[in-house]
This record gives sequence, C-alpha cells and structure tokens, in this order.
Amino acid sequence: MSDIVIFGGAGFIGAKLKTVYPDAAFPLADIADQATVSKIFDAGKPSIVINAAGKTGRPNVDWCETHKIETLRSNVTGPLVLLEECQKRDIYFVHIGSGCIYDGNGNGAGFTEDDQPNFTGSFYSLTKAMSDKLLAPFPVLQIRLRMPFDDRDGPRNLITKLSKFERVLDVPNSITYIPDFLSALETLVKKRARGIYNVVNTGAISPYEIMERYKKIVDPSHSFSKLTLKELPEVVSAARSNCILSNAKLKREGIRMLSVEEAIERALRAMKLDKH
Ligand SMILES: NC(=O)c1ccc[n+]([C@@H]2O[C@H](COP(=O)([O-])OP(=O)(O)OC[C@H]3O[C@@H](n4cnc5c(N)ncnc54)[C@H](OP(=O)(O)O)[C@@H]3O)[C@@H](O)[C@H]2O)c1
Repeated sequence: MSDIVIFGGAGFIGAKLKTVYPDAAFPLADIADQATVSKIFDAGKPSIVINAAGKTGRPNVDWCETHKIETLRSNVTGPLVLLEECQKRDIYFVHIGSGCIYDGNGNGAGFTEDDQPNFTGSFYSLTKAMSDKLLAPFPVLQIRLRMPFDDRDGPRNLITKLSKFERVLDVPNSITYIPDFLSALETLVKKRARGIYNVVNTGAISPYEIMERYKKIVDPSHSFSKLTLKELPEVVSAARSNCILSNAKLKREGIRMLSVEEAIERALRAMKLDKH
C-alpha cells in the first residue's frame, strides 16, 4: 500500500499528479463523506494526503452559480473533513487551492500569501477563499494555482481554452506552468513545508498576449480579437478574478519558477511539435 493518498485523481490536476506520484493511491471517494474518508485512512495508513478534488464547473465556473450546494460540499466541507481526519492521525495534508480569490495586482507588487482574499465575485471563488482562510491556521500545505497550462492539448489547459475563444481578455494575470508546479510541489512535500504558497510563474501576461504568441508559434491562421474587462460580462455570467500574485515566498524556499514569457514559449513550442 502506498504512503500517499491523492483525492481528485480523475480530474485535470489529479491526472498530472499521477506523473509525479505514480504509486500513490487514488481513491474515487467523496471527500465530504467523513466515514468513508476515515475508513480509507485507517486501511491505507498514509503519511501524506493530497487534495486535488473540488468542483470547478463544466464547461466553466459559471456552473457553480447554479450548483451551490455541490460546490460548497466539495470545495469547503470536503477540505474540512480531510483536515479533521488528517489532524486526528497526524497525517501531512496538502491542499490544492486557487489564486482566483484576488482582484488586482496587490499595489503593484502582486498579492502575497499574507494578503486577505479580496475577490468573491463568483460562488466558485467564494468557496476557494473560504477553504483557504479556514485551513490557514492549521499545519497544512496550501498550493495556490492560477490558470494552469502545459504543452498537452486538452479542455482544461489554459492555452487550449483560450484558442477556442473568439474574443480574448487583454488584462495581465498570473499563470501556472504545470511542470513548474509539479516540481515545486515535490520540493515542498519533501521538506514537509506548511502554510500557503502562491505557485505561479514570475511576472504576468494577458490571455490576449498568450494568443498572439500562439498565432506566431503554433497556428498562423488562428484568428481572435481583443476583449476588454468592461466587455467581459458579455461572455460570462459570474464575475472572474483577474489578479497578479507574488511568488517571492517560493523563491525564498529556493524554488525557481520560469518567467511567464519563458513558460508560455516553452509550452507553445512543444505544442507546435506535437501538432506537426
Ligand atoms: N484548473 C484550474 O484552472 C485551477 C486553477 C486553480 C486551482 N484549481 C484547483 O485545483 C483543484 C483541482 O482542479 P482541476 O482543474 O483538476 O478540476 P477538475 O478537472 O474539475 O477535477 C476535480 C476532480 O475532483 C472531483 N470531485 C469533485 N467533488 C468531489 C468530491 N466531493 N469528492 C471527491 N472528488 C470530487 C471531480 O469529479 P466530478 O467531475 O465528478 O465533480 C473531478 O474529478 C480544485 O480544487 C481547483 O479549485 C484549479
């Protein structure tokens, strides 16, 4: 039996975690079902639990607006159940959180882990901000991601998602290159780090700029136009977080994240090779 239990293995991030922890157990259990979680822990006796389960909505977070109970159960109740069951057994608990709990650029320097969440404009973000705050006083490692992407085409990959949009937002944002996230996670887990970490690449880039590079590198025939923040409500029902996070805390741990430009370029070049 593996020493690591990972929840959410059928999801986008969970599948990526399988590449780093191939021997982990990936139970397909409801994380909010305390009796089941307790049984899994008693049977497997893990020393590490990673939570990559949660409701993110299909096709997008607008779904959470009309499925609030399911979203609350998975994004708040579930993490609290895992916390309690891990605390009882002294299990190291790692929770995949989100940077989509901020709006703005944190006075120009990017929001740090100490800044209070200031965006609850969607029910999804509200639940992620709540779990972030509720877990914060406990010895839990929280990894905040932001619009994850790599070179693998897929409906959850930021680059693939943007390539399907006719109009693309021109607001700079933090983003997370999945290979950088996976190696940061591995390093933090090895150190048994606790607390919150913004796991984002250095700098900021707008979705529009990403598509300009996509057109140049991957598909010169791709066409799209600019969407301003003011026009965003024309294409989504719930508000969206647009924010820049600081990764200075990660750097202080000696963890290097590529610049957003380098990470996007790397993913696009590999994507192009795959397509040709
Ligand atoms: N992808 C992003 O853009 C992004 C960005 C920042 C943070 N995150 C966070 O990263 C985590 C994983 O996201 P993801 O992109 O991998 O989402 P995903 O592709 O939707 O995967 C989440 C998985 O969790 C499962 N799940 C939902 N509720 C559950 C519950 N109560 N018990 C057990 N499993 C449950 C889902 O199953 P069903 O499909 O059956 O619901 C799905 O298989 C989430 O917490 C998300 O908030 C994601």
